[in-house]
Amino acid sequence: MMTPNQIPHPNPASEARIRVRGLTKVFGEHPERGLALLAQGKGRAEVLKDTGCVVGLQDVSFDVAPGEILVVMGLSGSGKSTCLRCINRLVTPSAGEVVVDGTDVTRLSEHELLAFRRKHFGMVFQQFALFPHRTILRNVEYGLEIQGVAPTERTERAMTAIEQVGLKGWDQHLPSQLSGGMQQRAGLARALALDPDVLLMDEAFSALDPLIRRDMQQELVALQKRVKKTIVFVSHDLDEAIALGGRIVLMKDGRVVQQGSAADFLGNPADDYVRRFVEHIDVLGVVTAGDAMRAPALVARWDMPAAEALSRLDAAGEPVATVICEEGRFQGTVDATSLRGAGGTVLKLLAADRHAFVAERAPLNTAVVALAGGRGEIAVVGDDGHLRGIITNADLVAALARRHRATPPAGASPAHPVQ
Ligand SMILES: Nc1ncnc2c1ncn2[C@@H]1O[C@H](COP(=O)(O)OP(=O)(O)OP(=O)(O)O)[C@@H](O)[C@H]1O
Ligand SMILES: [Mg+2]
Repeated sequence: MMTPNQIPHPNPASEARIRVRGLTKVFGEHPERGLALLAQGKGRAEVLKDTGCVVGLQDVSFDVAPGEILVVMGLSGSGKSTCLRCINRLVTPSAGEVVVDGTDVTRLSEHELLAFRRKHFGMVFQQFALFPHRTILRNVEYGLEIQGVAPTERTERAMTAIEQVGLKGWDQHLPSQLSGGMQQRAGLARALALDPDVLLMDEAFSALDPLIRRDMQQELVALQKRVKKTIVFVSHDLDEAIALGGRIVLMKDGRVVQQGSAADFLGNPADDYVRRFVEHIDVLGVVTAGDAMRAPALVARWDMPAAEALSRLDAAGEPVATVICEEGRFQGTVDATSLRGAGGTVLKLLAADRHAFVAERAPLNTAVVALAGGRGEIAVVGDDGHLRGIITNADLVAALARRHRATPPAGASPAHPVQ
């Protein structure tokens, strides 16, 4: 199993847009004393007791790839905001490095930092912080105004951002005339107008009603696909992290407990804390068809003679063969019953539900629907239409069972044991 500080990322570190290594923040009068104790292996509580310093972050490492949404998650006080603020150095780290597009932010002079921040980062907070007497347009223009962008250009850029967040037609209104959700859209537009590479979002949707919040999550995902920003999103809400769909860095007491997808947390929890964190997760919404699939019993090309397919199925003791074309694209299935006594190729004998398949990346609940209507087996295909595997009723049950093994109920023994 991976330790929290191994970076499970397919890209080499050089490709990361943001590379965080050994990031540590000690708050207090004499942070160096706190650091020294940490170096001796002392814990957070001891550092507080001995020096009065609060360890906000300790040895945090992760990468953020370009165009990725990374969710930093954890309970209140776990260090999420501190971590986010260290990335653009609103908080000065006590140790470690934060490399953004090849530049170590911790080494910039104050002057360089201002320019760097302006060019690279946009921030969106939980509080919308709009100027009450400025129209939405003038609020969104604000950052550009500070940068000295000419009035025509800044209006143009602000209007584009307003449109991007779905507030077209509201530019002349005052913040008080907008709902909370709309005000947060304006906050997002204000960040987008500056066209930063990286959006840092701290509990940006936490003040919104649940339904509006869900809409905003979906819209952020859609927007991110269009504008391809790199987003670091802080949240204490697992459902939100799942809805945003990216990798998750789970923090506890200033440290990273585990990083990966929600499905990784579920299938391979690093410890009991992670196990408890994902206890109430909707497994069918998180595990993908690709996670649950297995190799088909028999793959037959469409020009395979029916007799050959039948003898192979019989030899394997399997009832169903999966049929592909010569390029490997999924065509359908044939079962032993229809093959028996038939001549010609398998192509003519494909089952009527030949289009019954699910996408590899689709959540398992789409497979449940497909399985319910079929013969207990469904094909899994990639974006290119190629066969990747199959899921049977048994695989589905196994995926659910794995989740239950991962989270045994306290004092587990059935209330009504089977006699
Ligand atoms: N300026 C500061 N001075 C002293 N301690 C601080 C400061 N900022 C944060 N801390 C401490 O660092 C720890 C992490 O705080 P942080 O604000 O990063 O948590 P968080 O995960 O964002 O919590 P929340 O979900 O409540 O926003 C906490 O123990 C907090 O008290
Ligand atoms: Mg916070």
